[in-house]
Amino acid sequence: MSVRHFLTLLDLSPDELVAVLDRAVELKQLQRDNKVHESLKNKVLGMIFEKSSTRTRVSFEAGMSQLGGSAIFLSPRDTQLGRGEPIEDSARVLSRMLDVVMIRTFEHSIIQKFADYSKVPVINALTDDFHPCQLLADMQTYREHRGSIQGRTVTWIGDGNNMCNSYINAARQFDFELNIAAPKGYAPNEELVKQNKQRVNLIADPTLAVKGSDLVVTDVWASMGQEDESNQRMSDFDGFQITPELMDNAQSDSLFMHCLPAHRGEEVSASMMEDPRAVVWDEAENRLHAQKALLEALLLN
Ligand code: CP
Ligand code: NVA
Repeated sequence: MSVRHFLTLLDLSPDELVAVLDRAVELKQLQRDNKVHESLKNKVLGMIFEKSSTRTRVSFEAGMSQLGGSAIFLSPRDTQLGRGEPIEDSARVLSRMLDVVMIRTFEHSIIQKFADYSKVPVINALTDDFHPCQLLADMQTYREHRGSIQGRTVTWIGDGNNMCNSYINAARQFDFELNIAAPKGYAPNEELVKQNKQRVNLIADPTLAVKGSDLVVTDVWASMGQEDESNQRMSDFDGFQITPELMDNAQSDSLFMHCLPAHRGEEVSASMMEDPRAVVWDEAENRLHAQKALLEALLLN
């Protein structure tokens, strides 16, 4: 059987994604009950990070330990990857030693090339275009709080970035409606929007966009690698901050999510982070459980 990768949410079928979430809930309960569950005993995960991380690194590393395996942190600063060894050579070598590889990098084409040459599953831990692992956690979190997201309405407010593109894929795979309010010039991937036009609505005004919404989501205005654009973006995104007052326009039982790290006073107000509708800490924790389920799905078929 050919090796399965997880580069975007489209790499698993809708049924497989639901199975991953079912398993994530079971694994969360096992951990809550302090039950030892070593389904990935002796398996080794390689973690290549070309950008910073707190949640992704710790959730993958802790997850592998909890499942009886281990993880190796690889930074370009101290591997030959950082000195120009070709991706395809690195992929061929590392995949002869590891059971699974996780990569956080810049261009999406880098991870695609690595996957093309890898004999073992490759997981996208964030590229400039997509962040599918975060969506597993977000979907698990919605389900735990409100049940199935199918047929619901989600609103994305802010940059049409890697998270926003991933929400478009999620709308397709989990079957929900997605409103997107992004400032002019910051719309998500045009092709992706076109492919999903029957469920994705671009609405310029954030207040109109959150109307009737069951879940409201945002992310930083300047992603990793866009630090130089920070000042320009602060002024371009004026009026796109999520506050409790903006949330009041959504459904009364609407939830708020943010993949974190959050910049209070920019894309989200400090009060919104403490609002009872915010489920950001559950969302962050679920990175651990959802990725353990993903690792099992990719390694144990
Ligand atoms: N949300 C997320 O991916 O966080 P880190 O950048 O800390 O991994
Ligand atoms: N869009 C953000 C997500 C961080 C988890 C970034 O790419 O920096």
